[in-house]
Amino acid sequence: LTAEKGGYDHFMLKEINEQPKAYRDTMRGRLREGLSGVKLTELKVITPEVLREIRNVHIVACGTAYHAGLVGRSLIEHNVNIPVETDVASEYRYRKPIIKPDTLVIVVSQSGETADTLAALREAKRCGASVLAITNVVGSSVAREADDTIVTWAGPEIAVASTKAYTSQLIAFMLFSLYWAEQVESLSQEEIRHQLAAIEALPEQVELILSQEDQLKRVAEDMAKHNSLFFIGRGVDYAVSLEGSLKLKEISYIHSEAYPAGELKHGTLALIEEGVPVIALVTQPALIEKMISNMQEVTARGGRIFAIVDQAHKEQVAKTADEVFVLPTTLAHLSPALSVVPTQLIAYYASLALGHDVDKPRNLAKSVTVE
Ligand code: G6P
Repeated sequence: LTAEKGGYDHFMLKEINEQPKAYRDTMRGRLREGLSGVKLTELKVITPEVLREIRNVHIVACGTAYHAGLVGRSLIEHNVNIPVETDVASEYRYRKPIIKPDTLVIVVSQSGETADTLAALREAKRCGASVLAITNVVGSSVAREADDTIVTWAGPEIAVASTKAYTSQLIAFMLFSLYWAEQVESLSQEEIRHQLAAIEALPEQVELILSQEDQLKRVAEDMAKHNSLFFIGRGVDYAVSLEGSLKLKEISYIHSEAYPAGELKHGTLALIEEGVPVIALVTQPALIEKMISNMQEVTARGGRIFAIVDQAHKEQVAKTADEVFVLPTTLAHLSPALSVVPTQLIAYYASLALGHDVDKPRNLAKSVTVE
């Protein structure tokens, strides 16, 4: 069985470490020569002509795939300048969403078999929308029923807690948003090339993060002594906070909540007392001053901050945080592909420290095919 796990103790750790490969495999064959653009030859129904007519986007998914969809929203709004809503599939299908023929519905599903996601897809089709699937399983139900499919090439994911599937979904959203941007000329050629160069650098940057797991292991072992903790962030840092918090609670059973940093003072701040750990995601230059003041709200009440911060702001953030983990430099809206990795390792090592079954957490299934 260790052979199956490639020498790692758990599938989750193996899959975390496979992320650089998963990023490269998901990009492979999709970057045009000289990074002049993105090739998505799999889009047969959702052609450039169709994309030019789309007026709004609904991203629908469950669990971790939903969190990838929150980042997808930022990427599409940033690059294509079209309004996007991201919904949990079990909410979407019952809330009478306004789906029109000029709506693009993107369903995101690692397995391609999640019942609620599949039901949302069928509803979208019934309403005449264009439906794009982002899935890791070729030939899955979602892939078969969508108009077109962008496959993430993460390879089989065994651990219940999703890692490489999530990050490959982020890569798929990055590529798709740039492909679309080219069709509608919402970005210049220069800007597309600039972003693609940054995307191409991500796998190596993840390798660098993985090489620093000792620090994250130590931090995780300390967090494992607490029975509650918080994640805060703004913008895509909030989306990553949600994913980091989910990962931690899924496998370590430590109670954890993710909050948009600016919302803390509207309630959750009441729970911050001496010694409560708070993981702050701080990668957005435009929001740095706001994040620092939110971190000060925490430290003023005795909360202890572990900040995951970009290179450019490490000194500034280190003045308020108790400890920092520094990320390699990338573009602000691409940062989730890096910043989520330390949160995955924290979840893994916290679960390990507590002696839980990392790969098979209680009460959870890899794929939920019932409603
Ligand atoms: C289950 C898994 C999660 C996953 C969710 C959606 O709850 O435990 O890790 O994010 O289903 O799965 P999907 O295959 O649709 O991405």
